[in-house]
Amino acid sequence: MVMTDEMMEIIESSRAYVATATTNGVPNVVPIGFIKPLDNKTVLIADSYMVKSRANLEANPKLAFVVQDAAKYPYQFKGSVEIFESGEYFDQVVEWVKETNPLAPKPKAAILITIEEVYSVKVGDAGKKIA
Ligand SMILES: Cc1cc2nc3c(=O)[nH]c(=O)nc-3n(C[C@H](O)[C@H](O)[C@H](O)COP(=O)(O)O)c2cc1C
Repeated sequence: MVMTDEMMEIIESSRAYVATATTNGVPNVVPIGFIKPLDNKTVLIADSYMVKSRANLEANPKLAFVVQDAAKYPYQFKGSVEIFESGEYFDQVVEWVKETNPLAPKPKAAILITIEEVYSVKVGDAGKKIA
């Protein structure tokens, strides 16, 4: 799956609502500000505050998200995650958060998402797989 330039631009510039689930299917959704694409297949999240989301991802490394303005950008992204508490991706989120807000706490982890599927949530073709 490859994201379009428009998809990458809107992820870069927008908040997202990120859904995870426990292994027995209890859903959880949170707003996330520190989310950005690294390339057309991967998206990075700074985990600074995740509790249930993080526990869910440790046990069930799958998530889905939509961007805040889903009326204008009606995409539902789904992917698998890897969690890094050190190394290149971790250093990248630490620097990113520090540059954006020097008063923000140091992130606990980098969450790297490999995008696997994108669906439309647009009224009319809602639910259609688009990539
Ligand atoms: C506007 C907004 C932006 C947020 N951005 C982030 C973020 O970038 N990273 C993060 O770890 N938590 C962020 N949070 C906190 C999470 O939404 C949430 O409170 C946290 O993951 C704990 O919830 P959980 O136990 O369901 O994971 C943000 C919260 C709000 C209200």
